[in-house]
Amino acid sequence: MNLANRLKAIKPSPTLALNAKAKALVAQGVDVVSFAAGEPDFDTPDFIKQAAIDALSKGFTKYTPTAGIPELREAICAKLERDNHLKFAPEQVLVSVGAKHSLYNIFQALLNEGDEVIILSPYWVSYPDMVQLAGGKPVIIETREEDGFAPDPEAIRKALSPRTKALIINSPSNPSGVVLSRDTLTKIADAVRGHECLLVSDDIYEKLLYTGEFANIGNVAPDLVPRLVVVNGMSKAFSMTGWRLGYTAGPKWLIAGMQMIQDQSTSNPSSFSQKAAVAALKGPESIFEPMVKEFRARRDMVVELLNSFDGVRCRAPEGAFYVLPNISGLYGRSYKGTPLQGSLQVSDILLNDFRIAAVPGAPFGVDANIRLSFATSREQLSKGLERFREFTASVR
Ligand SMILES: Cc1ncc(COP(=O)(O)O)c(C=O)c1O
Repeated sequence: MNLANRLKAIKPSPTLALNAKAKALVAQGVDVVSFAAGEPDFDTPDFIKQAAIDALSKGFTKYTPTAGIPELREAICAKLERDNHLKFAPEQVLVSVGAKHSLYNIFQALLNEGDEVIILSPYWVSYPDMVQLAGGKPVIIETREEDGFAPDPEAIRKALSPRTKALIINSPSNPSGVVLSRDTLTKIADAVRGHECLLVSDDIYEKLLYTGEFANIGNVAPDLVPRLVVVNGMSKAFSMTGWRLGYTAGPKWLIAGMQMIQDQSTSNPSSFSQKAAVAALKGPESIFEPMVKEFRARRDMVVELLNSFDGVRCRAPEGAFYVLPNISGLYGRSYKGTPLQGSLQVSDILLNDFRIAAVPGAPFGVDANIRLSFATSREQLSKGLERFREFTASVR
């Protein structure tokens, strides 16, 4: 018996695989410092937990409407209007099992075999695989570190074809931490204006901002809002990764298609997570401050240290909780007599010989880099970075 052919188009998630490998080593008693985390190391705020506890106590433990409880869809619309100045009606919102599920549903609902989706590199690892799993074709546009990872509008124009169904924007970005400026978003909008594709804006790191301001492409190009698809969720801003709650706001026809897929697959996200999400979205903006303050301090510490290492240069991310140091200065040089050639190899050496889990850049489209998450304590960061320094010092 063989697996379905569609599986041939996708690869296992390298971040989840590395996390699993690092956890297995820890379970064997190896002292691994993990830079692989894709989740805040903060607890979910108490008032959010309490809302879930109250829901459980009151027996709110049954199926809900597939698209989410009306109260939550309304709270999402209110949030989008308050924070993002974007107007959506509750029927334009679908609540899913994390933003990952939202994105999966979008591509399943949208793409026919061979339809194209433009993805800016470096990109979140799951985008190309989700597109391929839906039969689509990822069209990658490279951006350059020296341009602050801002895409060249001309490259977007050239990549657009009659098969282009969507372009994905992710700002702040995983893995680069780049926050696209209003000027860059305006240029992207100008590039796609004459073309009918959807604009999928993955705003999941919106609240984790250290410099600059967050804008959605809909803010700079209100005429494109009818084809804007906003993806967001509770995982990163509210430290709710395990609650599995994300959402999409977009054109009614797309949301209806996505709902049909969800009706026939997962149905509704967990009932009490939805109640917790209502409390979170209605809660005070001040809850983000301590987390952002701590992440900013860690970011500064990590960037300064990395830039002092031989062969490494690191740009300070404006948002999210990752740094993407460029290690190509080490390539061509040797470690234990073996020439260094790429991020997968370096990542392996770091885990096996230096007991640090650092995600290779290659699966994110950038082999010159590795991705380090600073969503771990300062003590762990110092310890792990000292090991990384030892590695760079041992390269000849
Ligand atoms: C860019 C990006 N989008 C979406 C997600 C999915 O988040 P979740 O499914 O936890 O809501 C992640 C998680 O790592 C991410 O980095």
